[in-house]
Amino acid sequence: MQLTGKSAIVTGASRGIGRAIAIDLAARGASVVVNYNSSAASAQEVIDAITAAGGKAIAVRGDVSKMEDAAALIKAAIDAYGKLDILVNNAGTTRDTLLMTMKEEDWNIVIDTDLKSVFNCSKAAIRPMIRQRGGRIINISSVVGLAGQGGQANYAAAKAGVIGFTKSLAREVGSRSITVNAVAPGFIPTALTNVLTDEQKEATIKMTPLGRFGKPEEVAYAVSFLASDEAAFITGVVLTVDGGLVMQ
Ligand SMILES: NC(=O)c1ccc[n+]([C@@H]2O[C@H](COP(=O)([O-])OP(=O)(O)OC[C@H]3O[C@@H](n4cnc5c(N)ncnc54)[C@H](OP(=O)(O)O)[C@@H]3O)[C@@H](O)[C@H]2O)c1
Repeated sequence: MQLTGKSAIVTGASRGIGRAIAIDLAARGASVVVNYNSSAASAQEVIDAITAAGGKAIAVRGDVSKMEDAAALIKAAIDAYGKLDILVNNAGTTRDTLLMTMKEEDWNIVIDTDLKSVFNCSKAAIRPMIRQRGGRIINISSVVGLAGQGGQANYAAAKAGVIGFTKSLAREVGSRSITVNAVAPGFIPTALTNVLTDEQKEATIKMTPLGRFGKPEEVAYAVSFLASDEAAFITGVVLTVDGGLVMQ
């Protein structure tokens, strides 16, 4: 799958899954905007890795839970590359705790970072994509949005919301040749999943038919496929990349 001549934004690309997505899109020829919120040095390291491999990338800071920052991010990509073909809504966070002890702030930060950000960036991107008569929006959900998870009511609600948003927007913009899909990863070791105990990790592996965790690159390959011309007839799907953990 080649993405030569395409321009792409990956939100939350300073580390983890977003980093792998940005590197894979760039390796396939896309010019990439690496978005981050607070980790400027890590974002620069991603830019360095992409440019060292002969790819094209710039870093743009922005808190995608804020509409103004999301709009500025989309504008920065169009200013840099003249258009926006691919938007990957990847930025996310967790504040895990049982509902009994969940503070309103734990709810709000997860809904704003994991769900409102998808609204913010997609809303800012949709007009330019309609004008261009095409585009790809790929939203990173989670198997937790499909199956639920004790201690993650806020995160599961946000990730399930991303799926409903994806299907609705796919119906709205299909006639404009814009596809909107979700990728739902299973357990991928990153900073986000460091908080889990060894017992929780072992239990997840036991429930996974492929008997292992996934790699950030394995999520990235699914994203690159959905971003490609080859995936032009696929919209409104939720592609699980989870070793068979949750079979829909
Ligand atoms: N890891 C897994 O097992 C797993 C499973 C299913 C789904 N996911 C989803 O995959 C996505 C990436 O997760 P990850 O595991 O790679 O997490 P991670 O390693 O914690 O990385 C999160 C990224 O999001 C960025 N970010 C956080 N808040 C942001 C904001 N308000 N604005 C812009 N960027 C922001 C961070 O950048 P800064 O540090 O600069 O803030 C960082 O680059 C998330 O949506 C997550 O829910 C992960």
